[in-house]
Amino acid sequence: MQAYQFHYGPRLVAGQGAAERLGELLPAGRCLFVTDANIRALGLADSPLASLADVIIFDAVEQDPSRETLMAAVAAGEGCVSVVGFGGGSPMDVAKLAAYLLGSGDDLDTIWGVGKALGARLPLALVPTTAGTGSEATGVSVITIGGSVKNAVNSPALNADWAVLDPELTVGLPRHVTAATGIDAMVHAIEAYTSARRKNPVSDMLAKEALRLLSQNLLRACERPDDRAARANMLLGAHYAGVAFDNAPVAGVHALAYPLGGHFHVPHGLSNSLVLTHVLGHNMPVAMRDYAELGCVLDPSLASLSAQAQAQAFVERLAALTRATGLPLRLSDLGIGPEHLDLLAAEAMKQERLLINNPCPISQADARRLYEAAL
Ligand SMILES: NC(=O)c1ccc[n+]([C@@H]2O[C@H](COP(=O)([O-])OP(=O)(O)OC[C@H]3O[C@@H](n4cnc5c(N)ncnc54)[C@H](O)[C@@H]3O)[C@@H](O)[C@H]2O)c1
Ligand SMILES: [Fe+2]
Repeated sequence: MQAYQFHYGPRLVAGQGAAERLGELLPAGRCLFVTDANIRALGLADSPLASLADVIIFDAVEQDPSRETLMAAVAAGEGCVSVVGFGGGSPMDVAKLAAYLLGSGDDLDTIWGVGKALGARLPLALVPTTAGTGSEATGVSVITIGGSVKNAVNSPALNADWAVLDPELTVGLPRHVTAATGIDAMVHAIEAYTSARRKNPVSDMLAKEALRLLSQNLLRACERPDDRAARANMLLGAHYAGVAFDNAPVAGVHALAYPLGGHFHVPHGLSNSLVLTHVLGHNMPVAMRDYAELGCVLDPSLASLSAQAQAQAFVERLAALTRATGLPLRLSDLGIGPEHLDLLAAEAMKQERLLINNPCPISQADARRLYEAAL
């Protein structure tokens, strides 16, 4: 067996109403509470905030948060002794880096990339309200620079102390957010399972169970938003996928998705969904056995088929699931046309940190062809 390392992730507090116990988890003193204005307006943060004695609220996080937003959160958190990230991936990613920059005093420009943030952050609790990026489980924070380029800091120093999984917070998620964030989580599980350099048996186990939970509950959660069992399964599945890919990092689907978010502001989960089956088709010759195994997770009745048929059925089942959610299926549905292909392909090549995890190489010409197929 190939040598590997595994980090199990933050301590978990989970269950209906778990977020109301936030105050018990953090040290005494002022807490920086990072969220977004929509979540504030929906009242989702009211009970959790009531459990914190001394709190500064920063609720100006936008989707695909910018460096300016991050630095404003850091300024707001001056003098705080702990940080909470409450929301989807966007507020959680800002909270992670704010906790790190406030605790370490490091300069952001010295820590981009993998393993460069080595200082100490402030105590940190993350509460996802989407299911989801799995950001509450990972040491990754994604920030948009200069309006279009997505940069990441990836370091164990960003892994939270606590993840709080409260399915009640996700009950009001609109259908398109449920669908897009759920597919993002499925992609995390799939890409962890085929991760080229750091695939390992513990991530594999989590990725399979994540995919089972997510694929069985995504349509239920879309069609019956208040199905709390489905919501709880989605949140747990997204978390498992997060722990899996924190140890076996994501790859080509995310590399091609990021330029869609950066340049065209396509939501992260939707941008993954738009390129997913095309990248899987490209990887098929080398990843067929893994995809066959995942096919049997999606549908155990495939077990009697050949590996090739199982792998093919895997891609077809994913395409059918995406169609059933009602998400847009083509880049052209979002105003992206042939004139954008060169830009997208060139930008995807900048996601070297992700491309090196893909089961086979993706050249710039491959990327252009894959975007073209998704038009
Ligand atoms: N750190 C990681 O490991 C990681 C992994 C994947 C993606 N990301 C990043 O996460 C971000 C995307 O996060 P996201 O997809 O969770 O979306 P998001 O945080 O940008 O939120 C999307 C929208 O959903 C709304 N929303 C969130 N929770 C809600 C709820 N419970 N009810 C109603 N509305 C709600 C938000 O207000 C927002 O309008 C991107 O910046 C992406 O790059 C990070
Ligand atoms: Fe993702």
